[in-house]
Parts: sequence; C-alpha cells; structure tokens
Amino acid sequence: MIIYFSGTGNSRHIARLLGKELNDNEIVELTGDFLLYPERFRLESGEGQRVIWVFPTYSWGVPPVVADVIAKITIAGGEWADHFMVTTCGDDIGKCHFQWRRLVEARYWKPVATFSVRMPNTYVCMKGFDVDSPVVADSKIAESALRVRSIADFIRRRVEIDDVVEGRWPKIKTRYIYPYFLKHNMNPEGFNVDESTCISCGKCARNCPMDNITLKGKYPVWGVGCAFCLRCYHGCPVHAIGYGNATAGKGQYMFPEKS
Ligand SMILES: Cc1cc2nc3c(=O)[nH]c(=O)nc-3n(C[C@H](O)[C@H](O)[C@H](O)COP(=O)(O)O)c2cc1C
Ligand code: SF4
Ligand code: SF4
Repeated sequence: MIIYFSGTGNSRHIARLLGKELNDNEIVELTGDFLLYPERFRLESGEGQRVIWVFPTYSWGVPPVVADVIAKITIAGGEWADHFMVTTCGDDIGKCHFQWRRLVEARYWKPVATFSVRMPNTYVCMKGFDVDSPVVADSKIAESALRVRSIADFIRRRVEIDDVVEGRWPKIKTRYIYPYFLKHNMNPEGFNVDESTCISCGKCARNCPMDNITLKGKYPVWGVGCAFCLRCYHGCPVHAIGYGNATAGKGQYMFPEKS
C-alpha cells in the first residue's frame, strides 16, 4: 500500500511511478477528511506487506498534516508491515527521515528504509525562494524516473538504508528551523488575493485539500486549518493569489499532469 500527500502534484507523481514499479495498485491519497479527521480512518495491512509513505519535505521535516495522520490513523496489521518513507524535496531534507522514523516507531510500527527524490521546488513564501526555471524543473522530473526505479529496487529487496540528501547543517535545520517555521511561517493569514486579477472561478476553494478556502462574495477567504501546501497559490489560473510582498514577481508551478 502506498499512502501519499501532495500539494502540487510532485509526490502524487512519485507515488504513482512507485506503484507501477512495484506493481502495487493500492494507492491512498491523504486529502479532505483523511487529513481533517485521520482518527476516523482504518486501512488494512498485514505481515510482510509494505506501507510506503510518500510526501513532500516541509522545512526539513515532515508536513504537520502527515505527522498527524501517522499519529492517529488506524492501520490494521500495521505493526507486522514494513514501513518506508519516500519524500520529495526541492533540494534537501535535513533530518526529516529521523522525524518520520520517530513518528512510525511511536506507533510500534517498523521503519525499514527512507529515500528522498529531488523534484521542482514549490516554496515561494520567503525572500530568496522561488520556483525553478522550466529547464531545471524539467530536468528534475526527467531524473526522477530513474531515481524511483532505484528506490523501488531497494524496497523490493527490503534494504535497510537511509538513502537521502540531508544537505548542510541538517540537525540545525530540522531541530531548530522546522519548529520555528511551523510557528511563524505557516500562517494562512498571509495569503491575499488580487481582486482586480481574480476571475472568481472558485478553483482555489474546490481544490484545497483541507477545505480551508471559501468564496465570500466573489473572492477567496482563508480559514485557519491550512496544510501550507501552496496548491491555492500555484493552481490559480490567473496568478491572483500571493503571500504578501514575499511572492511579488515569483512564478507558479504545478506538476504537469498529462491525463
Ligand atoms: C511549506 C513548504 C516547505 C518546503 N520546504 C522544503 C525543504 O525544507 N527542503 C526542500 O528541499 N524543499 C522544500 N519544499 C519544496 C517541496 O518539498 C517540493 O517542491 C515537493 O516536491 C513538493 O511536493 P508536492 O508537489 O507533492 O506538494 C517546501 C515546500 C513547501 C510548500
Ligand atoms: S483560483 Fe484564482 S481566479 Fe479562481 S477564485 Fe481562486 S483566486 Fe480567484
Ligand atoms: S489554503 Fe492553500 S495552502 Fe492551505 S491547505 Fe488549502 S490549498 Fe493548501
């Protein structure tokens, strides 16, 4: 079974590729009620079976919504299964894999191996961070196919490994910057809409995985329950959503779905 969360499509793409490589058709998307009420959900697993968790890295750690699902969801037989982590990132993941291992062990589940996959960057809400150029984004997507093949091979052979790119100062980033980021930089109050550009299509509200956006009158309004996945920002067809001055002049990116 592959369980994935994805804001802008990178992790969905990797989950689907992994499913094909491993011949695993049981792919569960964490969205809507799964994220809002994970304690209400029960999945089935069993001895020798695999549970592969696929999600983006957020500030060198596990996205809080994914951590919440791991802590609260019921997986019948989860303690007999082998658990794997595959995280997508723009560059590097710090000690995200250590966090994930701790979350899984807290459930008395077995973390076997962890992997990272470089994909186009989606974080834009701070100075100095922007989406990749189309050339860089395309080359990351092209390279990810080979990377997934190698990950699938490790998983099939049940190799116990942390095959990840930690980057520089991984402990500092995960231990100190991650909690600071969660507290101060994942605030949905920062989103704004340019009313002269917005065409009131409602896509941001329909597509929010947390049901956190409502159209009040003609324009979107953000609630407090936000995963900070940036799907609203990147998916707006007329680029009307911003995050204050931090996103001025910045680009958009969504994984190019062909189907
Ligand atoms: C809130 C947020 C924080 C992020 N933090 C990191 C990070 O610490 N390291 C990194 O390499 N990429 C980071 N990224 C980029 C994403 O991990 C990367 O683009 C990922 O593939 C997005 O996956 P998705 O399309 O499935 O949502 C971040 C993106 C967001 C939205
Ligand atoms: S997706 Fe963009 S254009 Fe459509 S309602 Fe939302 S902000 Fe407006
Ligand atoms: S409000 Fe935007 S950033 Fe927050 S969960 Fe919804 S789509 Fe993602």
